[in-house]
Amino acid sequence: MAYQGRFRVWRGDAGSGELADYTVEVNEGEVVLDVIHRLQATQCPDLAVRWNCKAGKCGSCSAEINGKPRLLCMTRMSVFTEDEVVTVTPMRTFPVVRDLVTDVSYNYVKAREIPSFAPPPELAPGEYRMKQEDVERSQEFRKCIECFLCQDTCHVIRDHEENKEAFAGPRYLMRIAELEMHPLDVADRRNQAQTEHGLGYCNITKCCSDVCPENIHITDNALIPMKERVVDRRYDPLVWLGNKLFRR
Ligand code: SF4
Ligand code: F3S
Ligand code: FES
Repeated sequence: MAYQGRFRVWRGDAGSGELADYTVEVNEGEVVLDVIHRLQATQCPDLAVRWNCKAGKCGSCSAEINGKPRLLCMTRMSVFTEDEVVTVTPMRTFPVVRDLVTDVSYNYVKAREIPSFAPPPELAPGEYRMKQEDVERSQEFRKCIECFLCQDTCHVIRDHEENKEAFAGPRYLMRIAELEMHPLDVADRRNQAQTEHGLGYCNITKCCSDVCPENIHITDNALIPMKERVVDRRYDPLVWLGNKLFRR
C-alpha cells in the first residue's frame, strides 16, 4: 500500500546548507533511492544525488540515512515505520559538492599512494600458481565496490580532518593487507603500512566492517592480520639487530 512518507533531506553546497522537509509518496517494495528519484521528479528537480546501477554494485549512491552510512539503493523503505521521518544526508567525512553528492577524491589519492602488485620478476603472468585458500582470501577483499562507506564511518578521519593526510582508511589498509598476504607479492609492505599509511591509528573499533555492504570482514581478515605482521616484524630479534646496526 502506498503512503505519504516524511523525509528530511540535506540541501546545500560547500558553503552552507540545511535540512529540508518533504512529504512524498512511498510504494511497496521501494528503496530510499526510489523516493529520492520521486522527489526529483515531482518537487525538486535540482536535487543532486550520485547513483548508477541501483543494484548495490557500483558504489555510487553512498550517503547517510538517519545518521548511518548506507547505500541509498540497498536500503528498503520497509525497514522504517510509516510515521518515521527518514533523514538523508551526504557522507560526513568528505566535502560536500552539492546536496547528497560529496567529493570523494581523498580516496583516489590514497589508492594511488599504494605501490602496485609486485610479483617475482622472473615469473611470467601465465606461470602464477597459488593455493586455493590464498585465492579465496584475495577474493573476499576483491568484492569491494569502492562505496567508501567504511572510510566515511571510521572515526579516525570522520572526527579528525587533520588525520586524513597520515591515514589511508580501512579500504586502503585492506588493499595493503591483501598485497602483503598475497603469496606472489615480494614487496615488504609492513613498515610502509605503519609509517606511511597510518595503520597504527586504527584501534580496531570494527565500525568499518559493520557498514560494509559487501559484508567484507575488513577488521578481522585484513586489519588485525596486518597489525600482527607489523608486530612480528618489530619484535623479530633479527630485524631489531639489523635496525640497530644499519639504521644509525
Ligand atoms: Fe565499501 Fe566495503 Fe569496499 Fe569499504 S570495503 S569501500 S564499505 S565495499
Ligand atoms: Fe577505523 Fe575500522 Fe580501524 S572503523 S579504527 S579502520 S577497525
Ligand atoms: Fe550503484 Fe547504489 S546505485 S550501488
